[in-house]
Amino acid sequence: MKYKRHLITAALPYANGGIHIGHLAGVYIPADIYARYLRGRGEEVVWVCGSDEHGVPITIKARNEGTTPQAIVDRYHELIKRSFEGLGMSMDIYSRTTSPTHAQTASGFFRTLYDKGEFLESTSQQYFDPEAGIFLADRYITGTCPKCSAPGAYGDQCEKCGSSLAATELIDPRSAVSGATPVLRDTKHWYLPLDKHEAFLREWILDGHKEWKSNVYGQCKSWLDGGLQPRAVSRDLDWGIPVPVEGAEGKVLYVWFDAPIGYISATRELLPDEWEKYWKDSETHLVHFIGKDNIVFHCIMFPAMLRAHGEYILPDNVPANEFLNLEGDKISTSRGWAVWLHEYLEEFPGKQDVLRYVLCANAPETKDNDFTWRDFQARANNELVAVLGNFVNRALVLTGKYYGGRVPAAGELTDYDRETLAELPRLRAVIESHIEAFRFRDALREAMNVARLGNKYLADCEPWKVVKTDPVRVETVMNVALQITANLAIAIESFMPFTAEKIARMLGTDNLKWDDLGRADLLPAGHIVTDAPELLFEKIEDAVIEAQIAKLEATKAARAVAAEDSAPVEPQKPAISFDEFEKMDIRIGTILEAASVPKTRKLLKFKIDTGMDVREIVSGIAEHFTPEELVGQQVTIIANLAPREIKGITSHGMILMTERADGRYSLVKPTEKVPNGKTVN
Ligand code: MF3
Ligand code: ZN
Repeated sequence: MKYKRHLITAALPYANGGIHIGHLAGVYIPADIYARYLRGRGEEVVWVCGSDEHGVPITIKARNEGTTPQAIVDRYHELIKRSFEGLGMSMDIYSRTTSPTHAQTASGFFRTLYDKGEFLESTSQQYFDPEAGIFLADRYITGTCPKCSAPGAYGDQCEKCGSSLAATELIDPRSAVSGATPVLRDTKHWYLPLDKHEAFLREWILDGHKEWKSNVYGQCKSWLDGGLQPRAVSRDLDWGIPVPVEGAEGKVLYVWFDAPIGYISATRELLPDEWEKYWKDSETHLVHFIGKDNIVFHCIMFPAMLRAHGEYILPDNVPANEFLNLEGDKISTSRGWAVWLHEYLEEFPGKQDVLRYVLCANAPETKDNDFTWRDFQARANNELVAVLGNFVNRALVLTGKYYGGRVPAAGELTDYDRETLAELPRLRAVIESHIEAFRFRDALREAMNVARLGNKYLADCEPWKVVKTDPVRVETVMNVALQITANLAIAIESFMPFTAEKIARMLGTDNLKWDDLGRADLLPAGHIVTDAPELLFEKIEDAVIEAQIAKLEATKAARAVAAEDSAPVEPQKPAISFDEFEKMDIRIGTILEAASVPKTRKLLKFKIDTGMDVREIVSGIAEHFTPEELVGQQVTIIANLAPREIKGITSHGMILMTERADGRYSLVKPTEKVPNGKTVN
């Protein structure tokens, strides 16, 4: 390692929801592996993270739930913090951007740039919601797309045709907050002139960081090739860090200016006296773990801010992952399509490492990837149970059986023993080179190869057979198998810390360090290991997986109904008098006969007993009902609607219907049977 110390950051999650498997596979699991690995190597490491608690979506969520933004972030900050702990995330601090230290740090940072003249100031017209009394972020203005005429386009983008838009281009704009028509108002903001930093950024990234992951480098290049524009760093909002400048009432720091400074604040909170060496000394190795949607902010905007400030180092690497999908579909919080960490921890107690393993083995490192519960089950059963668990169990069970848990001494090694043991330092070097290049899937595969090596060794040496003929040879075999077991605990520690700890406990040792990996003398002869090993992993049954899939489907269906329930309804019609209402003859009848009308697709004709008479009514509902299912049903009709001729049949009234969420029709009818002819009033 050529650095004095390492500062690792992981994207600060928004405190308006929980953590799901996409976040974990993309950001937190790789960051944790990296931090654990470096610590294991004896490096000086600080890993900071925390909740991102500002921004418009949090204010909208608070408004929708009738509570305050602070209450929202308090709730989710706690949830996130607890669930990270539950999964063994080894952050040195999990802070939050509503902390006083952060307010001071972010505010001071802005003020430094302001005093140095690093901002542009400009007044522009922005949409204001006169009902909610707030300026509207682009995402909260919807309207008709000027390019493709689709309704429901956002103020920054139409998702139908993919065009980027300016909010002012939308036809018939509406506030998504209140439904009101927004009005344009003058407002002043501060801008970071990214164009001014463009030449520097080009050279620093495109020439200086060709080693960055190709997805990251490629995105940077395309931003830079497109040319950088000044970017607003303030917003009109009453939630956030106030812009620390005279005449900036009602304005706060833009969340993407404020949040990355959160990394600095968290370090400061953790090490009040020493934080500066982490941020200002060029011998610090600074690495940002993020998802691909954050690349521009960490590679362009934050570095421009740091450089404009002047005292800070820039990141050495920004290993961003692509996205993880779930069962073939994009993870979506609003559609209820996600696997939540806090729920997983409750539903799979003690199985943290299974999730860590699957999400790393299948991480979207170079392209989007898919998580499926079937793959989760297959990897748990075929890899963790059958390879890792099986090897450790066999080694310990045999040691218990033959030697009562006492490590036997190795006699003379065969060539095969030596070759096997020589694999350990080789695997170590391979794992190191993968981790240091942020290839965690490859690294994990090689760590698992230590267990595969052990299984193969036992299968080839067959101590359970040889013990009968050559017990002395078996002492050597079991010694080698136990040394491999100890190496395995070291190799998997950063990926599966709970399992590594269990193995170490069963081996009766607690000082296995990365630097020991590769050694064949980790457990001296005579050392006592457990003679009653517990299973490291248990098989995951089909029923468990099926229940998870059913739960996903159920959440999705429930969300779909909820979304329909909150879909806009037709506005109320103009008022009518009571007399006008009284003129309508609404009553209950029973369908005696129903038949389709020949040569039409939609029409059904009915004979209906209205209590007064049996009459014919025609209705356009053939696409929603079969005649058979309607016969015998009670319906509500408007009896005195003037007769109308429809396809040669005279219709004497109208049957009342409504529409279900799925678009199918439903009869409007009394919930209990009533006598035909009863009126509705
Ligand atoms: N909250 C952002 C997200 O979830 C990430 C912020 S990263 C930071 O996409 F740098 F701003 F902190
Ligand atoms: Zn469009």
